[in-house]
Amino acid sequence: MYRDPDFTPFTPNERPSWRSTKRNYLENWPPAAYRDDYFTLNRVWPFVQRTHYLTDPELIEDMLITRAESFTRDFITVGALSSMINREALFFVEGADWKWQRRALAPAFRHENLLALTPTFVDCAKAQAEAWRRAPQDAPIDAMSAMSNVTLAVIEKAVLGVTGAFDRGKFVAAMQESFAGLSWVRIFTLLRLPTWLPFPGSSKINRNMRYLYDETARLLAARRASGVETQAIIDRLLAAKDPESGRSMTDAELVANLYGFLVAGHETSAVALGWSLWLLAKDQASQERVREEVRAIVSDADISGDTIEKLQFTRQVIQESMRLFPPAAAIGRQPREDMMLGTHKISKSEPVFAALWALHRHEKLWDEPNAFDPDRFTPEKAKMRHRCAYMPFGAGPRICIGMGFAMLEMTAILATLVRDFRFAPVEGHRLELAPDFTTRPKGGLPLIIEKT
Ligand code: HEM
Repeated sequence: MYRDPDFTPFTPNERPSWRSTKRNYLENWPPAAYRDDYFTLNRVWPFVQRTHYLTDPELIEDMLITRAESFTRDFITVGALSSMINREALFFVEGADWKWQRRALAPAFRHENLLALTPTFVDCAKAQAEAWRRAPQDAPIDAMSAMSNVTLAVIEKAVLGVTGAFDRGKFVAAMQESFAGLSWVRIFTLLRLPTWLPFPGSSKINRNMRYLYDETARLLAARRASGVETQAIIDRLLAAKDPESGRSMTDAELVANLYGFLVAGHETSAVALGWSLWLLAKDQASQERVREEVRAIVSDADISGDTIEKLQFTRQVIQESMRLFPPAAAIGRQPREDMMLGTHKISKSEPVFAALWALHRHEKLWDEPNAFDPDRFTPEKAKMRHRCAYMPFGAGPRICIGMGFAMLEMTAILATLVRDFRFAPVEGHRLELAPDFTTRPKGGLPLIIEKT
């Protein structure tokens, strides 16, 4: 068990403030969020909708699994993210449209197809290792931007079936700048104001969004023009046919999904990997255990589809890092009708969130919730836990379709990098959390690296 003041990166407010809404909305979750089964942010400002937050596994199970059909995506997530992930993508569609899109994409995410991607994961990690070897060794690296680079390279190959089809650096920069506007979009959505209203920096953000969308449409056109078929996700999208209506995806659906995969498929894994490296830099004993495990299983060879699943401790590190720093801090739903959740009365106009950040640090569910301890995720201990006590990928029918992909990808990348480099914290650096689309730190995560 490793303890560090940075693992509790802010003090929860007793009463919500606008400043926190803009800077770090998690500060507005009260101290009781970490003790009770439920809390609300209760029309604290005029015109702002009441929102409900669940921190009890039973209540979350009821919403996401047992009564999944009684909910849609909530209006805040739809309003805040539909500028980032177009509304016709799998993430947003509902009902029959969602069912056929999900079914059409399922084969790409079958376990054996994911295992076959292991060499891609390893090659992308090795390219990053090579870049670090060439860089000056005494200057800190930024773990977050390095991991964005690696995971975007992975997703490019997995989604498009090719490498070098677009300028990754420009794509990531445009995406990060667009995320920076999300706190404004969230505030506008909460106030039910149109999200096209200008805010500081909005014209630059709109320019970036347009670039990202046009770039995605260009990638789709290039794939069509090439006529080359691969096993990549883009080919599943192009071949998808609704078994009931026989229809294929429209161009808008294709671009929306491609864009969704490029953005959501790499940002979340990048953030989880960045936190994992940073936590291991703090906890040198766990870092050494990862290194020993990788050496014992593959020595100096590449991790393969046959060895990746033996990296049990490496996987536990990633799971524990997503407990302390879940890439998605909350999962929202909108009830279709007025209803009761447990003893709580919910109106259909009020969004409900599974409050992952608080659930994963809840006093009733975890010993020393703010300490880092990958041994919480030994298979024996994980089995004892309620299935909704830990859920970085969600739960129920809308659980992340990329969960298996992300777990294999992150294991291969973390194992490859930790075997080849030693990571240490930068003295004097203090963590400040600045969540937007994901739980990112302000100014990245600087680390000192050294070849092993
Ligand atoms: C550490 C990595 C990741 C995390 C923590 C994560 C987390 C999540 C969460 C919390 C949801 C919402 C679940 C819900 O609403 O109940 C989600 C949905 C989704 N994720 Fe991920 N994700 C990750 C990686 C990926 C990857 C690699 C891909 C694609 C290659 C992906 C594609 C999607 C899609 C398409 C959805 C929408 C699914 C649907 O509505 O049916 N994610 N993810």
